[in-house]
Amino acid sequence: MPRRILIVDDDPHALRLVSYAFEAEGYQVAVASSGAEALARLASERPDLVVLDVMMPDMSGLEVCQRIRANPATARLPILMLSARGLVADRVTGLRSGADDYLAKPADTSELLARAEALLARAAYPSARAGRVLAFLGAKGGVGTTTVAVNVAALLAAEGYSVAFVELRPGYGSARALLKLDPETDLGELLVKVPQEITLRDIESRLVRHASGVRLLAAPRVAASWNAIGPELADALVPPLAGTYNYVVLDLNPSWSALNRGAVNHAHFTAVVSEPEPISLQCARATLDSLRAWGIMGDLTGLVVVNRGTMAVPVTMPQIRSALSAEVVGALPPAGDACSQAAREGVPLALLQPEHLASVALRELTRVLTGTGRPLR
Ligand SMILES: Nc1ncnc2c1ncn2[C@@H]1O[C@H](COP(=O)(O)OP(=O)(O)OP(=O)(O)O)[C@@H](O)[C@H]1O
Ligand SMILES: [Mg+2]
Repeated sequence: MPRRILIVDDDPHALRLVSYAFEAEGYQVAVASSGAEALARLASERPDLVVLDVMMPDMSGLEVCQRIRANPATARLPILMLSARGLVADRVTGLRSGADDYLAKPADTSELLARAEALLARAAYPSARAGRVLAFLGAKGGVGTTTVAVNVAALLAAEGYSVAFVELRPGYGSARALLKLDPETDLGELLVKVPQEITLRDIESRLVRHASGVRLLAAPRVAASWNAIGPELADALVPPLAGTYNYVVLDLNPSWSALNRGAVNHAHFTAVVSEPEPISLQCARATLDSLRAWGIMGDLTGLVVVNRGTMAVPVTMPQIRSALSAEVVGALPPAGDACSQAAREGVPLALLQPEHLASVALRELTRVLTGTGRPLR
C-alpha cells in the first residue's frame, strides 16, 4: 500500500515542489494550504506522516502540531516540520511543540525524503503499538464493565503485551476482588498528592502484579472525596503509563465527572458497556452523546453488550443497532456461573474457561480493540 503523506504549506510553490518530490517516490500525497485545512484533512485522509510548514497566516504550524498531539487519534502521528526559520531556537521550539524532526527550507530533496522514510520506518516498528489506552465506561452501574475490562486486560497480557489496569473510580472497585488481589497500596495514596507532582515512579510503586501479568492500580479501598478531583489526575496517570506499557486499560465509574472527561481524552478507544435492556441502553445512548459533546467522536467509541441473562427477552442486536448510532465491538452471552467461579479463583473467565462462549466473545472483542479484528456486523 502506498504511504500517505499530508503536506501543509501556505506557499503554493513550496507545496508543489514538496508534493512532486514525494509523488516521484510513489507516495500518495494530500495537501493543505492552511492549518485549519490540515486539521480537517487529517481526519479524512488519515496520513502516515505530516510535513508541516511553520509560518502560516491563520494558524501556525506550531499550533497545528500541538493540536495533532493533543488528539489521542493522532497523538503518535509522525510530524516533520519544514520551515524557512532555521535558527537553533526555531528548531528547538518546533521540536518542543511536538514535531519529530525539523528541516530548514530550502531543504535538499534527498535529505527530506530520507528523513521522512526514517520517521515512517520508526513508526512501523511493532513497539509503535505501545501505549494504546483502552477505556471501559459502564452505561450504568453493575452491567459487567469491570468483568469485561479485566478479561480484555488478561487476554492482552496472555498475548505478551505489558498491561497496566487502572481502576479510576471514586471508591472501592471490584477489580481487586475479581483478581483476588488485595493490595495495601492503591490509588488512594496518590490522591493526597498534587496531580502535577505524581511521577511514574509513584505510580509504578503502587501497581500490583496479578498472575496473568496484568499490573493493577486499584481504586482506593476507602472512598475519597472526589468532588475536587479533576481531569488533571487522568493527565498525571495515563500518559506516563502509556509511555511504559503496551496497553493501559481504564475501568471508569459510570459518571460524567471531570475525571472521566480527562480519562477518555487520553483513550485511543472508549468502550461503553451496556446490558441489552431498555434502561441500560438509554443510559448508553446518553453516555455516547456525552462523549461526543466532549469531542470523542464515533470512530473512537463503541458499544459492548453484556447479556447477564437477567431479562426474559433481551433487546436484539438489530434493535440495538438501530437505536444507537454506535459500532457494536463486542457481545457477551450469559455466563453467571462461570463469572462466579472466575471471581472465586481470582482468574479472569477468559483464562479460566477459554472454551466458554463468553470467553470466545471476549477474545473476539480483544481482537477488535487491538485493531486485528472486525466489529460485529
Ligand atoms: N456475561 C455475564 N453473564 C452473567 N453475569 C455476568 C456477566 N458479566 C458480568 N456478570 C456479573 O455481573 C456482576 C457485575 O459485574 P461487574 O462488577 O463487572 O459490573 P460493573 O459494571 O463493573 O459494576 P460496578 O458498576 O459496580 O463497577 C458480577 O456479579 C459479574 O459476575
Ligand atoms: Mg466495575
